[in-house]
Amino acid sequence: MQWEMTAKKGLRGAIRPPSDKSLTHRSILFSALAKGECIVENPLMGEDCLASLRAMNALGLRHEWIDEQRLRLLSFFPWTSSVHHLDCGNSGTSIRLLAGLIAGRTGVDATLDGDASLRKRPMKRVAEPLRLMGASIEGDQAPLHIIGQSLHGIDYASTVASAQVKSAILLAGLTAEGVTRASEPTLSRDHTERMLAAMGAPIRRLNETTVEVERCDKLNPFEINVPGDISSAAFWLVAACLVPGSEITLTEVGINPTRSGILDVLTQVGVEVERSNETVGLGEPRADLTIRTPERLSPFVISGDLVPRLIDEIPILSLLATQCDGVSEIRDAQELRVKESNRIDAMVKGLGAMGAKVEAKDDGLIIEGPNPLVGATIESNLDHRIAMTFAIAGLIAEGTTTIDGVETVSSSYPDFMNHLNSLCN
Ligand code: S3P
Repeated sequence: MQWEMTAKKGLRGAIRPPSDKSLTHRSILFSALAKGECIVENPLMGEDCLASLRAMNALGLRHEWIDEQRLRLLSFFPWTSSVHHLDCGNSGTSIRLLAGLIAGRTGVDATLDGDASLRKRPMKRVAEPLRLMGASIEGDQAPLHIIGQSLHGIDYASTVASAQVKSAILLAGLTAEGVTRASEPTLSRDHTERMLAAMGAPIRRLNETTVEVERCDKLNPFEINVPGDISSAAFWLVAACLVPGSEITLTEVGINPTRSGILDVLTQVGVEVERSNETVGLGEPRADLTIRTPERLSPFVISGDLVPRLIDEIPILSLLATQCDGVSEIRDAQELRVKESNRIDAMVKGLGAMGAKVEAKDDGLIIEGPNPLVGATIESNLDHRIAMTFAIAGLIAEGTTTIDGVETVSSSYPDFMNHLNSLCN
């Protein structure tokens, strides 16, 4: 399937972005650890989270819809001992968190697999620490064959700031003898820590980048109302900056500080984002965000601790850089090379084809603006964020921008085109 995009003026209106993908995955996976039923209001039912739900169903989790918004999840004990084939589709979060969740469940024998994109992504980063805990995992790339074993705690220093790695270790730690400690070079998103703490898990943060957990059989059930995903809201925040005469309000957006790095970048760019209706649910803050097209866009720098706080927003921020007045730099972001696609190469190729001045670095991008864009044909490469980034690029380019392979957008944002149409009216 393809989209054909043409230039637009004045995007206006209010959008409730799709619910947070990371929080929906965790709600589904962690509900299996609760000693009672969990209720998830507004889960994201995109393809990635559906992969987590189907995998958990296969392992024994039951679910039912209470009404259109609320999902009831009924945990199961003990974990079933049959052999499972769990298809994680395009979803890195599903495969890596599931690996940690099942590694210590004796009796479980499962093969975790996925699509062509997922099969290329590095799994050694989770397999290695889990093996050090005593796990039986065959494969350093999908498919992974895992046979549940008794585990023991470790003190593991990951070389990558990855919430998926940290979460896999902590989930395995809940089944391991002794204390399990995970540290990372800089703090990645901390939804797992917040949700496990809210469920009463024996989890402690020792410092900014180190967290430890102890064995715990059953956790308290939870109710969560999942906020909107700031990584999806990001497309409209940038669209409002780029499309002249725009004013957009994004409601109920999750603004956990480990996710809100894009707001810091917008401050560098000189754009004001108004916050209102701030609340907190299950340890996760949210707010409505309003943004208007500014007069001028200043260039920005992304590096160091900021990178994990906006890692999924770098494709759309690279597009923003093409219209900023000067040179923007994105460094320390080599992780972009192992996402759903190699996002450094995808951005250089796509923005280059549209006439932008963009240079690849091993760990990022250098982009010089402002530069008018012209329509081109872009391949999504099974990467939802690349497809949506170039759909927004098409709103400011001269001529037609064609994006091929847009089915992938359903991973995180099934309503993307409907929301765009509503902002255009
Ligand atoms: C995610 C963590 C990030 C992010 C991904 C979702 C999560 O990956 O890119 O989209 O839900 O934990 P890494 O932890 O591998 O950086």
